[in-house]
Amino acid sequence: MIFRQLFDSVSGTYSYLLASRPGGEALILDPVLEKVDRYCKLLQELDLKLVKAVDTHLHADHVTGLGELRDRTQCITIMGEQSKADVVSMRVADGDKVTIEGLSLDAIYTPGHTDDSYSYLMGDRVFTGDTLLIRGTGRTDFQNGSARAQFDSIFNRLLKLPEETLVFPAHDYKGDTVSTIGEEKRHNPRLQVKSIDEYVELMGNLNLPNPKLMDVVIPANMHVGLHQEELARQGRSLNAREAIESLGRTDVLLVDLRESGERTKHGTLSGALHAPYPSIGENLKPGGMLREVAAATGRRIVFFCAFGERSAMAVKAAGEAGLANTAHIAGGIDAWKKAGGPVQHG
Ligand SMILES: [Fe+2]
Repeated sequence: MIFRQLFDSVSGTYSYLLASRPGGEALILDPVLEKVDRYCKLLQELDLKLVKAVDTHLHADHVTGLGELRDRTQCITIMGEQSKADVVSMRVADGDKVTIEGLSLDAIYTPGHTDDSYSYLMGDRVFTGDTLLIRGTGRTDFQNGSARAQFDSIFNRLLKLPEETLVFPAHDYKGDTVSTIGEEKRHNPRLQVKSIDEYVELMGNLNLPNPKLMDVVIPANMHVGLHQEELARQGRSLNAREAIESLGRTDVLLVDLRESGERTKHGTLSGALHAPYPSIGENLKPGGMLREVAAATGRRIVFFCAFGERSAMAVKAAGEAGLANTAHIAGGIDAWKKAGGPVQHG
C-alpha cells in the first residue's frame, strides 16, 4: 500500500494520499487548495491516477483542494450527505464504502465538530477528521457543532474500535502525527470525563478565537461544485423535466455513470446503460463500449450520475474524444427524483 501523510503548515492540516500500488488508482483525504501543485507532482512521481478526493467535513480553516483537484484530474469529489457544499460528485452516509482499486474505506458518521463530520476506517487505521485529534478533540462551537453529538461519536463509535487501531487526524498543532485508539482512551485529556454533561461543560468553556479566515473559507468551501452553465449554453444539458420527458425516446441512450452501490441504494432509470465514471476514458476510446454503442445505434448519449458533476465531466470528455452528440442531466438523479421522475429499484 502507498500511504502518505502530507502536512500543510499554514493551517496545520494533514492530508492523506492512499493507493494500493504504483501505477494504480489513488484517493486523497482532506486536500488543501494551496498544496494542489505538490499533490499533482507527487501523483505524477508515484505514477498514480487520482480518482477520488474526499473531505471529512466542511473545513473552516483552509480552502479545500477538492474543486481544483477535480478540475485538474477529473477525479470524483466526495463529502457526507449532510454537507452544505453546493455540489460534490458523490455523497456518503454512515455505513457506505468509498472504494478505489484495491482499497476500501468505511464511512462512519461522527457529527459533533460539525454536523457533516465523517471518519473513515481502512483496515488497521481510522481517519478521524477533526472529531478525534491526538490528545484533543475538534471544537464544537460553530457550523452546527455539538459537544453532545461529539461525545457520542467519540465514545460510542470511535473508541469502540480495536485499541490498536491507528488514529490519523485531519489536524495537529503540536507535531504529533499518529496515535492509537487505546492511547487516546487513556491519555487524551478531553476524554477523561465521567459523563456526557462533564464533556459538554468542558467543550463549552474552551473560549477559542474563531479561525482567522473563517468568513472567507467557509463560503469558498460551500461553493466547490463544478460550474455547469457552459454546458447549458451549448445545449448539452437537460434539466430534470426535459430528461423525464425524453424517457423512452428511441433516439436517446441514457448512460448511468454511478457505481453499483449507488445504483442499489438510490435506484436507477429505466433502460439506462451502466458505464461507471472511472472507466469513461476507456469507454470513449475508439473501440470503447460507449463509442461503439453510439455509432451502432446513432442515438444521442445522455449521461447522468448522482448530482450532475460526473456527467458534466463525461460530456466534456466525450467532446474531447470526438463524440460531439452527447448531453447530461443537470443535477443528476437527485434532481430527477425531486422533479418526480420514476426510478427503478432492484
Ligand atoms: Fe474542521
